[in-house]
Amino acid sequence: MKGHGGHRGIGGAASSRRRAAVTLHDAPGGRSEASRRWLRRQLNDPYVAAARESGFRSRAAFKLEQLNQKFRFLKPGLAVVDLGSAPGGWSQVAAQTVGPSGCVVACDLLPMDPVPHVLFRQGDFTDEATDVWVREALAGRAVDVVLSDMAPATTGHPSVDHARILTLAERALAFASATLAPGGAFVTKLFQGGGEQAFVTLLRTHFQTARYAKPAASRSESSEVYIVAQGFRA
Ligand SMILES: C[S@@+](CC[C@H](N)C(=O)[O-])C[C@H]1O[C@@H](n2cnc3c(N)ncnc32)[C@H](O)[C@@H]1O
Repeated sequence: MKGHGGHRGIGGAASSRRRAAVTLHDAPGGRSEASRRWLRRQLNDPYVAAARESGFRSRAAFKLEQLNQKFRFLKPGLAVVDLGSAPGGWSQVAAQTVGPSGCVVACDLLPMDPVPHVLFRQGDFTDEATDVWVREALAGRAVDVVLSDMAPATTGHPSVDHARILTLAERALAFASATLAPGGAFVTKLFQGGGEQAFVTLLRTHFQTARYAKPAASRSESSEVYIVAQGFRA
C-alpha cells in the first residue's frame, strides 16, 4: 500500500502489527459456534491477511480500492467525507488517494484511532452536532465525494436489516445533496432486499449515473452491494 510520504500503510506498521493476531477473543459473541465460524472465516480470508500485511485497518479498504479502480471517483486534491468510517480502512484509502492537497473528514458512532491526514469525530452523522462539526471541518471546501459504508447493527432478519440500511443511505443521500459540489460523487452500501431499485432510480434524478457494484472483496454470500453515483446535478 502506498502512503503519504511513502510510509508503509497510513495506519503505520506498528498499528498493523498490533492488529495482526486474530484470535477467538476477537470473535463477536465469545466462544459460541457462530464465533467459531467467524474466526474460521477470518483466518481463511485472503483479504484479512492482505489488510494485515498492508497496514489497512480493515479488509473493507480493498472494497473501496476496487470500487475506485473501476469508477475513478477518488483523485488527488479532492475533498471527501467518509460516513461510518471506523475502524478506518476507507479513510486510509481516501487519504492516500487524495494526498496532501485533498482532505478527508470522517465520522462514526464508534471511536476510531487517528488516521494521518483524516479529521475524525465520533458521533451519529444524523445528529445536528456531528453535521455542524463536519461542515466546520471542511472549512468552506465544497465536497467532491461522499462515501457511506455505514451499516446498522444487523438483526439477522434480512428485511429489517435492508430497511435500516436503506434509511441510513437515504440520510446519507440527503447529506450528499446538501454538501456536494456539482459533478461530485456519492458511494453507498446497501443490503439487497427489494427497495434498492427505487433508491437507484431516485439517485438517477440527482446524478448523471448511478451504478451497482459488487467489488471482489465483498463476500459473495453477503447481500451487500454498493451504489456508485457520479456527476451530481446541483
Ligand atoms: C462496515 S463498518 C465501516 C467500515 C469502514 N468503512 C472501514 O473501512 O473500516 C460500518 C460503520 O458504520 C457505522 N455507523 C452506523 N450507523 C452510523 C451512524 N448513524 N452514524 C455514524 N456511523 C454509523 C458503524 O458504527 C460502523 O463502524
